[in-house]
Amino acid sequence: MKISVINGSPKGNNSVTLQYIEYLKKRNAADDFSIIHAGQQIRQYEKPGAMDEAITELIGTDLILFAYPVYTSLAPYQLAKFIELIKKHPQAGKLAGKFVSQITTSMHFFDFTAHRYIVENALDLKMKVIEGHSAEMEDLLSAKGQKQLTDYYSRLKFAMKNDITAYTRSNHNVDANFTFERTTAEPDRKSAVAKADTVIVTDCEPENLSLKNMIEEFIDIYPRPVKVVNIGEFRFSGGCMGCTRCAATGDCVYKDGFQDLLRNEIQSSHAMIFAFSVKDHSMGTKFKIYDDRQFCNGHRTVVRGVYSAYIVHGALNTEQNLMDLLEAKAEISETPLTGIACDESQSQSETSESLKKLSLNLDFALKEKWDKPQSFYGIGGMKIFRDLIFVMRGLMKADHRFYKKHGIYDFPQKRKGLIIKMKLIGLLMSIPAVRRKAGNKMTEAILKPYKDVI
Ligand SMILES: Cc1cc2nc3c(=O)[nH]c(=O)nc-3n(C[C@H](O)[C@H](O)[C@H](O)COP(=O)(O)O)c2cc1C
Repeated sequence: MKISVINGSPKGNNSVTLQYIEYLKKRNAADDFSIIHAGQQIRQYEKPGAMDEAITELIGTDLILFAYPVYTSLAPYQLAKFIELIKKHPQAGKLAGKFVSQITTSMHFFDFTAHRYIVENALDLKMKVIEGHSAEMEDLLSAKGQKQLTDYYSRLKFAMKNDITAYTRSNHNVDANFTFERTTAEPDRKSAVAKADTVIVTDCEPENLSLKNMIEEFIDIYPRPVKVVNIGEFRFSGGCMGCTRCAATGDCVYKDGFQDLLRNEIQSSHAMIFAFSVKDHSMGTKFKIYDDRQFCNGHRTVVRGVYSAYIVHGALNTEQNLMDLLEAKAEISETPLTGIACDESQSQSETSESLKKLSLNLDFALKEKWDKPQSFYGIGGMKIFRDLIFVMRGLMKADHRFYKKHGIYDFPQKRKGLIIKMKLIGLLMSIPAVRRKAGNKMTEAILKPYKDVI
């Protein structure tokens, strides 16, 4: 069997994920593995004609296997760009019917959204998707992890032989091909205001009139000064390379000014609105490079309390994974989501209405200092980070200092009083006579402190 591995890690041969491939390669000598270093060589692939060879290889293979680290809940920017290049290639249609699967390593922090993203794009190309393998970074070091990887590979072959493709809800979400545009161009206005407490971060291109008009309309109705930062115009030196040299100090090795832009122009605001067009089931590659490069903030919620919102051009209603991601992004960074305005209805009046509501909501949040509890995304995600940083505190010094300062190390659970109380109740409840007598008294006892507060 011929397997073309698309290595999405910017670390190339030094990728941890690639070791999972090497492991399989060594134990399956009859299979022919070839590696495309998409992550490390993305600049090469962006050159005119450079994708031809890769596409020819992918067309001629039996299985396309994406191997990549999860980066900010999705694939690394470099791999997202490679996927964009595949989809744009005139021969891309010939990938239809090809088997595709994926292996990731991560800390299991939003690994599922990364997997769904690959599935959705593979389905756009009408490929046959086989369930992937999501490993924790160090799984391969244990016998259990090795068995799981071997099992995945056997299962993969079995699925290919019997044509068993993965069922995902994305099966119902094959490329919405969202192309409608509002055609009336509005005059260019200078929207940056010096002391803005709200920033709109966008990758809007001049010809994207739909998004441009939505941004302009929002600025018109929003009662506060707004500053627009167009990351589409920013010249990134490159995507995050995962070198983790920012871990101790929070300083990135790139000196292209992104850190200053991020900290002085964006993170210093009280509200951030991200304005984008749905692209390849994501916010597009400009926002991907922006998100990945924020790794200089480590796992610190440096913008906690800053409100977030979205202005979206495109059929967001068919993009469940992206919707989950938008919500999750807000939760993880503790930037309460105040709303999403979208033109998915394709009606001018409904779009205007959604912008108006977003404006009202965001203004309310800022005025009232709206305090919103986190959901599972934020709470659950932070527990993973807490455990991770505690173990890695020797390296991730900036994160460690932040976690100590903000009391994020909430373990082992210090609620001794409650633990003892629960033990006592448990002991009593194990006696049948007490259990019978307790009846409604238990509910009463639970409710008592609430009644007192009321
Ligand atoms: C910029 C960046 C973003 C990351 N984002 C995530 C994430 O969202 N979820 C997660 O579980 N791990 C995340 N990680 C950790 C990597 O997925 C993990 O270290 C992976 O095993 C690295 O694999 P590689 O050596 O093949 O690149 C991130 C790492 C970096 C550098």
